[in-house]
Amino acid sequence: MTADTAVDALDEKSAQQELARLAEVLLQANRDYHTDDAPRLDDATYDALKRRNTAIEERFPDLKRVDSPSNQVGAPLAEGFSKITHAVPMLSLSNAFDAEDVADFDARVRKYLGLDADSPLAYTAEPKIDGLSLSLRYEDGALVHAATRGDGTTGENVTANARTIDDIPTVIKGAPKLLEVRGEVYMSHADFEALNARQSERGGKSFANPRNAAAGSLRQLDSSITKSRPLRFFAYAWGAVSEPLATTQMGAIERLETLGFVTNPLTKKCTSAAELLAHYKDIEERRATLGYDIDGVVYKVDDLALQERLGFRSTTPRWATAHKFAAELAWTWLTDIDIQVGRTGALSPVARLQPVTVGGVVVSNATLHNEDYIKGLDSKGNEIRGGKDIRVGDWVQVYRAGDVIPKVADVDLSKRKEDAPVFVFPTQCPECDSDAIREPGDAVRRCSGGIICPAQAVEKLKHFVARGAFDIDGLGSKQVEQFHADGWIAEPADIFTLRKRYGSGLQQLKNREGWGEKSANNLFDAIEDKRTIPLDRVIFALGIRHVGEAASSLIAMHYETWDAFETAMAEAKEQTGAAWDDLLAVDGVGAVMAGSLVNTFAQEAERASIDRLIAQLNVQPVKRPETQGSPVAGKTVVFTGTLEKMTRAEAKARAERLGAKVSGSVSAKTDILVAGPGAGSKARKAADLGIETLDEDGWLALIADA
Ligand code: IVH
Repeated sequence: MTADTAVDALDEKSAQQELARLAEVLLQANRDYHTDDAPRLDDATYDALKRRNTAIEERFPDLKRVDSPSNQVGAPLAEGFSKITHAVPMLSLSNAFDAEDVADFDARVRKYLGLDADSPLAYTAEPKIDGLSLSLRYEDGALVHAATRGDGTTGENVTANARTIDDIPTVIKGAPKLLEVRGEVYMSHADFEALNARQSERGGKSFANPRNAAAGSLRQLDSSITKSRPLRFFAYAWGAVSEPLATTQMGAIERLETLGFVTNPLTKKCTSAAELLAHYKDIEERRATLGYDIDGVVYKVDDLALQERLGFRSTTPRWATAHKFAAELAWTWLTDIDIQVGRTGALSPVARLQPVTVGGVVVSNATLHNEDYIKGLDSKGNEIRGGKDIRVGDWVQVYRAGDVIPKVADVDLSKRKEDAPVFVFPTQCPECDSDAIREPGDAVRRCSGGIICPAQAVEKLKHFVARGAFDIDGLGSKQVEQFHADGWIAEPADIFTLRKRYGSGLQQLKNREGWGEKSANNLFDAIEDKRTIPLDRVIFALGIRHVGEAASSLIAMHYETWDAFETAMAEAKEQTGAAWDDLLAVDGVGAVMAGSLVNTFAQEAERASIDRLIAQLNVQPVKRPETQGSPVAGKTVVFTGTLEKMTRAEAKARAERLGAKVSGSVSAKTDILVAGPGAGSKARKAADLGIETLDEDGWLALIADA
């Protein structure tokens, strides 16, 4: 074994030996660098060894070691962190980008609560800290564990590290028996500069920004390293609590402060959207002098009883939003415009750019949205950018906000060559040559090839195997592209017949580049593993336009079984009638999504492809969440007439939280009709069918203790 042998020339045995040696050398180098802050390899040597390790692993994926250096981001993750499931999920926030979005947020909150524009409604406004969120669990006043956000449901156990942070008390007095405090770990600008200076003095790598430095420092297996890093913590929220902290957000923040937490001094109570905007402006003006990074202002409804009523929408609370600061900008040349065809056939123009740094990130691609955007028009045909179109060769302004895809925002016409041709948007799919059609009212032009379009087929397959969908180990985008290009899989059902078609002797798969007997077997096993799969994942995996992960889960909970779901989709085909009303009654399903669902099932080729898939699977029913003690769990409820104490949306969300199924029409399956003043035909039908009918107060009394 020699480090000089070309990777292509290595046989399995020498590759295995070399991976073992590289793991040892690189893991030691990581320890020297991170744990002892005393690197012994220079960066170039370290990088070259790491690249070689990756190249060998790519050629022999089944030889990849469990302790592979490529699994390690910076610090050695010898045993990794244990996982903690959050008692209350850690959610993210919806975003607002301008005053109009803030007004919309306020209007949405009021509408949901049934408050008119003049009713008093207080909010809090506070800086959005650009760090990483942390949940601290205190039992009987003692810190018992600390967890990162992770995927929102499960995070990493970083308790030992959290204990080293001065702003985090390990014991608190006078707290509720159970209290989960949530907030942001961050690093100040001054501490960040000093840390980077120290790192470079020692020949170490420096961190790109304070957020990365904070994340890298908190996620250390060796807590003595965390201790040596100057991390701070602002408390701004809470998870599980055995008794309420206060009756308002502001009160709860003050209580957290009394308990010994650091809260942000710029947190302010505001009584109107105008006041929120004024405070936003104030914070924005002070941004440069705060000494730590913030990326916006968070608005929260102040009254906690109203927060409770507003509740959550899949991953974000209805009672809060993050008003982000304007994005970062840079100018560069647009070298080309490519058209990509997505899973649903959408033709998306992508700007290829001369690479440019925008807010610390190198950007070489940006979205151009759609053909109107290139022409300088918005979706209603009004001019944008003063009507300036975008052409190949233009000097363009690139805009980036947070993690969103960069976009081309502006063009400098003075730098355009006179003969620069106008960009002509294709009317044929660049991948399959089918007509690319733009429906009236749709901003997007779509390939009409459906599943015959290879680009759509491959994107659908990639979506099918992605996280949240079938998530098949060893079958990622790269493998799907390869198998599709070679004609091994054309549609999802084909994945489940791979073993039958190519598995005998594994010869064919083994002969492929990057596959060995072990990895081939692992793949077949991973596929078998996913033959039994819950309904929500199947619905999401179908890749139906507008139907995301959260909606799939709600739809699955509504229909519970594949048979019920597919029957309903067929029955709702005409987009009228009971099955259609029932589909629209699912929380989060609007007419557009419902239309997309039933149309998919109505298309013969699509339907046949879905049937072939289902024939391969064992689809598991999805149960509604446990709703212990709820008198309406499992019941079908219909609301009709005017509700006076809550809006229809709130009534529906609350009933569903209690495990009821809310339907739009009365049928023999209806258990309870809640009828307000003005109830008409539904009340009569319910009476005819002998269905229990309650008025609003009766309903509220029924669910009062649930
Ligand atoms: S409140 C239920 N307040 O922003 C939502 N979040 O985009 C609770 N963040 O994951 C979050 N500063 O890491 C809240 N003052 C603040 C915040 C804040 C930063 C982060 C937090 C969260 C993310 C959401």
